[in-house]
Amino acid sequence: MLHQLTVMDTVDRRRTVESESSGERSVYLETYGCQMNVSDTEIIASVLRADGFGLTRDHTAADIVLLNTCAIRENAEQRVRRRLAYFRARKRKRSSGLTIGVLGCMAERLRHKLLEEEHLVDIVAGPDAYRDLPNLLRATNETGQAAVNVHLSRSETYADIAPVRYNSNGVTAFVSVMRGCDNMCAFCVVPFTRGRERSRASDTILEECARLVENGYREVTVLGQNVNSYRDESGVAFPELLYRISLISPTLRIRYSTSHPKDCSDELLSVHRERPNVCNYIHLPVQHGNTEVLRRMRRSYTREDYVTLVERARTICPGISLSTDIITGFCGETEEEHRDTLSLMAHVRYDHAYMFMYSERPETYAARKYVDDVPEEVKKRRLTEIIRLQNRISYENNRTEIGRVHTVLTEGPSRRSQERLCGRTDSNKMVVFDRAQLKNGSYARVRITDCTSATLLGEVCT
Ligand code: SAH
Ligand code: SF4
Ligand code: F3S
Repeated sequence: MLHQLTVMDTVDRRRTVESESSGERSVYLETYGCQMNVSDTEIIASVLRADGFGLTRDHTAADIVLLNTCAIRENAEQRVRRRLAYFRARKRKRSSGLTIGVLGCMAERLRHKLLEEEHLVDIVAGPDAYRDLPNLLRATNETGQAAVNVHLSRSETYADIAPVRYNSNGVTAFVSVMRGCDNMCAFCVVPFTRGRERSRASDTILEECARLVENGYREVTVLGQNVNSYRDESGVAFPELLYRISLISPTLRIRYSTSHPKDCSDELLSVHRERPNVCNYIHLPVQHGNTEVLRRMRRSYTREDYVTLVERARTICPGISLSTDIITGFCGETEEEHRDTLSLMAHVRYDHAYMFMYSERPETYAARKYVDDVPEEVKKRRLTEIIRLQNRISYENNRTEIGRVHTVLTEGPSRRSQERLCGRTDSNKMVVFDRAQLKNGSYARVRITDCTSATLLGEVCT
């Protein structure tokens, strides 16, 4: 999914919980939104299991349904509302009742409004309230009233909670290292839904990574909304954190997401160069190609700063693969400004991009100060143009891979065929290849023979 070269809506990555144990009351969890939410659901599962709740992946068998939600764009919220309507209908029909909870970013954004509008929601819990979930569930069960905790913390990092890895391929794992965001980009709701930035103590992160390696994991993606501004209380900053994780095992690959251009230092780039297991790949969201729009977006860099950064990355780490996020149709975007995004994309030649139409979010700086004045059809047309360009560039970049040999970390059978395996290159490109006798988690040397704009095809070298 991470490699799909179409408009990528984060809510598509809906996941369910594997049945793990049969506790007193069983909980079904569904996740919308970004990787942080996927990681948070693993924390929620851990909190609930420790308290004796059972987890089920079959919602019809559940007494409690919890949706871990996303508020990043309006369509993300609409999808959750439709799902809530479905569960409310089930609740009415089910003789033993059904407890319905809204967790995560939408819970934080809408708070009590969610209870007023959606009368049958029993639990509302924001991203910093997950330790309180067992209490909230007990409270609503006992009183029949809704239970709410949307308190945002300055210190919660869930550092001591060992996430329950479910729906896992046993090879790749997410490790959350910081929470919140202090950047206040004009378009973005995240600072409102996730609160202030705070970093988790590095020793607990190293410990978690070491345990993953012991359990056979071969890749970690270190997560934070602005992950490269990480700095813990003992003064460990992000480059050092990555460096230390990379020393745990040479068989462990390290990626991270999402990095902000303002914190992408030479020191960080040097860690990519010096440590072979820190992948030669960075997701570096640019958002727009025009300096004036970037200023309106409050991104704190100009087009020229960004281009210089890309050049530095490519000088320090030759062959580094880059991907990005782009917003089209932001407030006041002119045709000429839009063309600057296209020209930046053509200049940088990303391997991959997530591309979105601007969606106004209440409370944000943009919602308060600017007019969302680019008509829907214009946004759509501009989005189509950037997607078309990116598909072409991705395909051309992939073509140059044909004949090359890559070290691919085997993740499991490919989606389309059990006869084939899939895994990713160091540069984060998905490769589908013939099924030699390879176990999940093994590294294979694969010669690339063909490609689409989204996937490489290859054969294991003998
Ligand atoms: N912390 C990350 C972004 C997290 S949100 C960063 O700063 O890069 C993921 C992406 O959603 C953003 O990069 C942006 O491209 C997009 N996005 C955020 N708010 C949006 C909005 N209001 N409308 C459309 N896209 C948005
Ligand atoms: Fe949102 Fe900007 Fe923070 Fe990313 S850096 S989460 S876009 S405010
Ligand atoms: Fe969505 Fe919250 Fe992530 S708004 S993108 S789930 S931080």
